[in-house]
Amino acid sequence: MPRAVADRLVPFRSTIFAEMTALAERTGAVNLGQGFPDEDGPAEIVRAAADALIAGPNQYAPGPGTPALRHAVAEHQRRFHGITLDPDHQVQVTVGATEGVAASILGLCDPGDEVIVLEPYYDSYAAVIAMAGAVRRPVTLRAPEFAVDLDALRDAVHASVDRRDRDGRGGARLLLLNSPHNPTGRVLTVAELDAIAELCVEHDLVAVCDEVYEHLAFARPHVPLATRPGMADRTVTVSSAGKAFALTGWKVGWVTGPEPLVSAVRAAKQFLTFSGHGPLQDAIAAALALPDAYFEGLRDRMVARRDRLVAGVRAAGLDALVPEGGYFVTVDVSGTSEPDAIAFCRALPARAGVVAVPTTVFYDDRVAGRSLVRLAYCKREDVLDDAIARLAAVGRW
Ligand SMILES: Cc1ncc(COP(=O)(O)O)c(C=O)c1O
Repeated sequence: MPRAVADRLVPFRSTIFAEMTALAERTGAVNLGQGFPDEDGPAEIVRAAADALIAGPNQYAPGPGTPALRHAVAEHQRRFHGITLDPDHQVQVTVGATEGVAASILGLCDPGDEVIVLEPYYDSYAAVIAMAGAVRRPVTLRAPEFAVDLDALRDAVHASVDRRDRDGRGGARLLLLNSPHNPTGRVLTVAELDAIAELCVEHDLVAVCDEVYEHLAFARPHVPLATRPGMADRTVTVSSAGKAFALTGWKVGWVTGPEPLVSAVRAAKQFLTFSGHGPLQDAIAAALALPDAYFEGLRDRMVARRDRLVAGVRAAGLDALVPEGGYFVTVDVSGTSEPDAIAFCRALPARAGVVAVPTTVFYDDRVAGRSLVRLAYCKREDVLDDAIARLAAVGRW
């Protein structure tokens, strides 16, 4: 029996998250491995969702998303990024950003096409590229800056474009980006975005940009790639409510962009889930309209937690790199007695009572990620303090 897609997914089926979560449960370690907050988002939004569930209807939402949420997403893009969108044709609600990325790749790639992706990458990217029968071509972000190596990116694009056949099939089709970036925290600079834009325009590439951490950019403002020259017509922007409102369990996301691209994404999304979480959608519409003070407060709290974890990790004698945004601190363990990040993370629960994730697994280039470990700071301060105390108790690393 043919099992092509399942076979292509074999390398992704046992994830490091499952292994590390099981280790956390078995050892009672503090879990800084997975990136979800341990406090829920705004109480008034949770209340609005509860009211909507009780009032009903609890039936399918329209495929593109409820009108209230589509209008709220369009208004959010205008308010924060100066992007004008038609809520009927340029906004598609999805089941989290994960489905947004999946529907984008499935809707926009043919088998054999190449997707140029910054690595380390969020784990669903590689799996969904494989599901589409496409080929990932990683461009490596290297510690400690994790800046985009623009020469390497240009080389990757040029090599990939050269693999297109005479009819333009195969070779580079998409660039899949993520900023602020998981797990490195890199917030792409305008110079990086403009160089990427130039390549996309020159080689007729579509960009899919995952911006789930858009409200968690600390070092510099988050600038959507869609706003850079020539990119409004060739960028699919993906985001979701999970990180902006600490409501990761709701899995409400959205895709925005020019009508032809959004309609291609919609075509794939229609047969993945059709629609999701109808009664929660209008609560997220209300969340997107929260005043600026909410978004500023979220950012300030996360900066404080980042700084707390960075200081604690450094005081424990480990080399913490300060992230520019997002949810994670990267620790470089190359100077420790266990410089291999996977071995380090496997030993960490027994050694220190803390769970982390080796960034290595998000790289194809295992050398670049060999000694990098990811710790989440989107946790309560007492949880961070507990983890810091446990790390400090180890003494010499
Ligand atoms: C870069 C990135 N994209 C997408 C997601 C998933 O978003 P959602 O929960 O909205 O599907 C995450 C979650 O950690 C992420 O870090």
